[in-house]
Amino acid sequence: MRPPLIVANWKMNMTIGEAHAFLAKFLPHLPEVSGVDIVLAPPYTALKFVSLSIDGKGVSLAAQNMHWEEGGAYTGEISPRLICDAGCRYVLLGHSERRRHCGETSFDVNRKVLAAFRNGLIPLLCVGEEARDRKEKKSQEVVESQLMKECAGVSPDQARALVVAYEPIWAIGTGEAATAEQIAEMHAFIRETLRRLFGAEAASSVRILYGGSVTPVNITGFAGVSEGVLVGGQSLSADVFLAIIRGMRQCISS
Ligand code: PGA
Repeated sequence: MRPPLIVANWKMNMTIGEAHAFLAKFLPHLPEVSGVDIVLAPPYTALKFVSLSIDGKGVSLAAQNMHWEEGGAYTGEISPRLICDAGCRYVLLGHSERRRHCGETSFDVNRKVLAAFRNGLIPLLCVGEEARDRKEKKSQEVVESQLMKECAGVSPDQARALVVAYEPIWAIGTGEAATAEQIAEMHAFIRETLRRLFGAEAASSVRILYGGSVTPVNITGFAGVSEGVLVGGQSLSADVFLAIIRGMRQCISS
């Protein structure tokens, strides 16, 4: 079995000073939480600081977004090359907040996914439906369309490294997490869609995570159905984030 993957998405939070305080609390506890792959996704401004602080400690770094071009006249953007230089191994792509607030389309996300692979980065591709879609029983249709469009041109070999995070939009930052049944059903559907896209072998290598209002309390319900979680609000405190990691760990070892 693969170790679970737990990602802290700090979103537009954490100064370098706050990241320093988080890591001073968090890093000494790493030996207690072995067997779990941990990824921190700070804002761009803290990437290099976090990268230097976690060097050699078995924790990986992710950017929360990037442009698809390697470089050039794109004022205010960050390229794959620049986030690699800052120490990133992963990049979050297609987060619903970027789709909603920054107008990112599936076409944009696809260009970013391809650019990530070109640059040796692992894409953490976020997909998920709106509350309205779920009500209209269109959740699978929406997620299938995102996967099909956003993974276009990805080879089965590249797909093996892909991480997909199922993040229903109605569950993000609302305190209303999806149920284990809803997650299990969508994960199976995502795996089946990946199988159609890349073949059984590559699809079985893709890690599928859940994200949306994950807490230290509800993590025990997700551990059995998901290969990991993407944590937003509850990842800003080292103590709370550690409690989530411990919860995930306990479930897989029991
Ligand atoms: P949340 O965010 O844990 O605050 O719901 C999750 C996410 O946006 O990835």
